[in-house]
Amino acid sequence: MRVCVVGSGGREHALAHVLGRHHEVVVTPGNPGIPGSVDTPPTEIDADLFVIGPEAPLVDGLADRLRAAGRLVFGPGADGARLEGSKAWMKEVLVEAGVSTAAHGTFSDEATALAFLDTMDDLFVVKTDGLAAGKGVVVTTDRAEAVDAVRSYLSGDAFGDAGRTLVIEEGLTGPELSVLAICDGHDAVALAPAQDFKRLGDGDAGPNTGGMGAYSPVPLATGAVVDDLMDTAVRPTLTALRARGIDYRGVLYCGLMYTPTGPRVLEYNVRFGDPETQVVLPRLTSDLGSLLAAAAAGDLGGIAPTFDDGAAVTVVCASEDYPLAPRTGDPIDGLAEAGAVDGVSVFAAGVGQRDGRLVTAGGRVLTVTGQGPGVDEARRRAYQAVSLISWPGMQYRTDIAAEPTG
Ligand code: AMP
Ligand code: GLY
Repeated sequence: MRVCVVGSGGREHALAHVLGRHHEVVVTPGNPGIPGSVDTPPTEIDADLFVIGPEAPLVDGLADRLRAAGRLVFGPGADGARLEGSKAWMKEVLVEAGVSTAAHGTFSDEATALAFLDTMDDLFVVKTDGLAAGKGVVVTTDRAEAVDAVRSYLSGDAFGDAGRTLVIEEGLTGPELSVLAICDGHDAVALAPAQDFKRLGDGDAGPNTGGMGAYSPVPLATGAVVDDLMDTAVRPTLTALRARGIDYRGVLYCGLMYTPTGPRVLEYNVRFGDPETQVVLPRLTSDLGSLLAAAAAGDLGGIAPTFDDGAAVTVVCASEDYPLAPRTGDPIDGLAEAGAVDGVSVFAAGVGQRDGRLVTAGGRVLTVTGQGPGVDEARRRAYQAVSLISWPGMQYRTDIAAEPTG
């Protein structure tokens, strides 16, 4: 099969890498660090299957446009992508499907929002309704910070129109888990679970980011836990979507929190997680292309993905001042040496090119995945490779997968 991956980050590099084991792959627009990158728009590419990586083109209806042109597409249409495009709508669907989630309210008026904050205990969670590149969530014990978030979101100062409606949620605590479900519109299969690290600094210090690292498998996420999630969250959600006339063919990414009173769904995303994809897909031992093509065609037909018994750990290397004001344009050293470490794959995210050299071109620049028989060896390999890479101001966490949640 010829497969076209749409997107330009580390997730798309990992998708292309794993699809490339069995298929010919082109990536649009990709980046100079991803082999097979072309700058032809997806609508002008001839491929047997299109896999759309990021949320923005999905919310914008790219899957609909490609399907209207007769293409086989893995990724929801704009109707289903609204699950990620509007947190308020996602909450509505979760409640309708009977899925256990944090109590919440939706607001576009300051006084009512602040009054609702007063009903919260000691952990305040404020989220933009619309897309904010993973940065529109404030989780804080400081009421003043929550009030600031409410004001700056609603005024449009912080995230423009994405914040003019916001969601305030009950603050939950516990370990988190990401499960990526491959959906064919009616049914779904889960990929191996992963855990990501959202905060910038070691020990979960600092601001929320798009994700600073991940590992898979997660000891906490036994087969029974995942089966239960599929039965109590993913399938009821697909049913609720169908009742609204939405045929959801793509990834449903469930972000879960293990609270003392049981698992709750924190959020759905409509795409593969980044950097979860960089640890989940390398462990796949079956053909990713046929799985995604079957889902895209509307019938998984009993295909069950299989994974190796080992582990994968990925460490994100980010540019100076990520996530606030990432500095770009720095030459990247040591990429080839890092990629040569046994069991390591280096995925290019925010990577550009200048004078024939790869340079930093975004906040999250590289994700470095190590694989091994267990998490310790996978972690050792990932960090050995990271130690060979450098550019001025490069930052990364040193505690990814140091203590897997069991
Ligand atoms: P989201 O984009 O909704 O997944 O939120 C990003 C991150 O914020 C999550 O991965 C959690 O770490 C944290 N978070 C989101 N919602 C809550 C909540 N209700 N309680 C505590 N933490 C949360
Ligand atoms: N790693 C979190 C996300 O992809 O949203």
